[in-house]
Amino acid sequence: MRVLLIGGGGREHALAWKIAQSPQVEELICAPGNAGIAGEPKTTCVPVGGEDLLGLMTLARERKPDLVVVGPEAPLVMGIVEKMSELGVLVVGPRREAAMLEGSKVFAKQVMKRHGIPTAEFEVFDDANRAIEYARSLGRSVVKADGLAAGKGVLICENPQEAERAISRVMVDRAFGEEAGRRAVVEALLEGEEASCIALTDGEEILLLASSQDHKRAQDCDRGLNTGGMGAYSPAPVLDEDMQAQVRDNILKPIVSGMAQEGILFRGILYAGLMMTREGPQVLEFNVRFGDPETQPLLARLRSDLVPALTASAAGGLSKVKLEWDPRPSVCVVMAAGGYPQAYRTGKVITGLDQAARMDDVVVFHAGTKKEGEAVVTSGGRVLGVTALGKDIRGAVDRAYQAVEVIRFDQAHYRKDIANRALQRAK
Ligand code: AMP
Ligand code: GLY
Repeated sequence: MRVLLIGGGGREHALAWKIAQSPQVEELICAPGNAGIAGEPKTTCVPVGGEDLLGLMTLARERKPDLVVVGPEAPLVMGIVEKMSELGVLVVGPRREAAMLEGSKVFAKQVMKRHGIPTAEFEVFDDANRAIEYARSLGRSVVKADGLAAGKGVLICENPQEAERAISRVMVDRAFGEEAGRRAVVEALLEGEEASCIALTDGEEILLLASSQDHKRAQDCDRGLNTGGMGAYSPAPVLDEDMQAQVRDNILKPIVSGMAQEGILFRGILYAGLMMTREGPQVLEFNVRFGDPETQPLLARLRSDLVPALTASAAGGLSKVKLEWDPRPSVCVVMAAGGYPQAYRTGKVITGLDQAARMDDVVVFHAGTKKEGEAVVTSGGRVLGVTALGKDIRGAVDRAYQAVEVIRFDQAHYRKDIANRALQRAK
């Protein structure tokens, strides 16, 4: 079969690497891809952007893929599933109205409330003064702009003064966009350890992937600005089998069946960002796609073919699919451009990639890279996801950092404490 993969980051390289290994797949086309994806067997990259719906439709009409796999959320929220369906092309992912679970914080919180999904207590406001009043009553709060804000529209407030400033930024200054600031969610601040639970669903069956945890802050010890994710590992000991079953039964199943009752079929990838609180797991957010960088360590551990699972999530029949995982833990360390997540330079030559890739149990996933002549150069903020397996979590961490050490580019920066929580628990 021929697969079209949309996106060009680290998550998409991990997906491309895994999809290209499938015996079912003869050809993989990636739009737009990156230098790492272009190097995978059976794979070609085409210069069509992931948000260029018209360009993607033209590509689908010309190349007639049997399956489309969507990496990022934006095309889903824009309605790519409907558009491709009109062409008779099968797409993994939810239709637009179901993708609102990620596309609108207000929608997500209200659906959760209607179906009794554990999440932080909240109210929705279109009036800044009333929002401030509610934040005061909570003490510590979180202010969330409605709509996609690339992870930036969430402001943690330690006290009512901070909340007042946050609400002004979101709703008065409209710092995250005019539309995103029209309404805001104010919710209680939850405490605990965060973890990601990612599943495939065909609208009925829920197939959990292994557990994982990412590191959102730019600097060691969770300091610095929020990023897309500076590293991840799998499994996350905080989400053990019991806890995963709880998440499946109390969160994922009821949200999918609850939406179905409301006439909204959710198919594709459902990612619950969780806070593991003393009262049990609570939902911080839903995403409607694979995590980046969680996908890198997850797929490094997946022994089964991913393609039948993806196909079943799009076409139905997921109950017949089983996934087998490598019991060894995996760790992904993101190497980022100097300055990321703020302004950064691109075009820096990367060396040591081949040497790192030759190391046992190491896969170097590219994120922001491109080819310039014979050289691979940086082209984004997150540049590489250096991923390794180990006999235990210590082994995986050591191996990943050994590989990071041999890769060089000007002003590279990465966190030195990826998987620290799992290491502490292992002690
Ligand atoms: P979100 O995009 O809603 O997942 O928020 C981004 C990040 O903000 C999460 O990964 C958490 O670190 C933090 N966060 C969001 N909501 C809460 C909450 N209610 N309590 C504590 N932290 C939160
Ligand atoms: N790593 C967090 C996310 O993909 O949203």
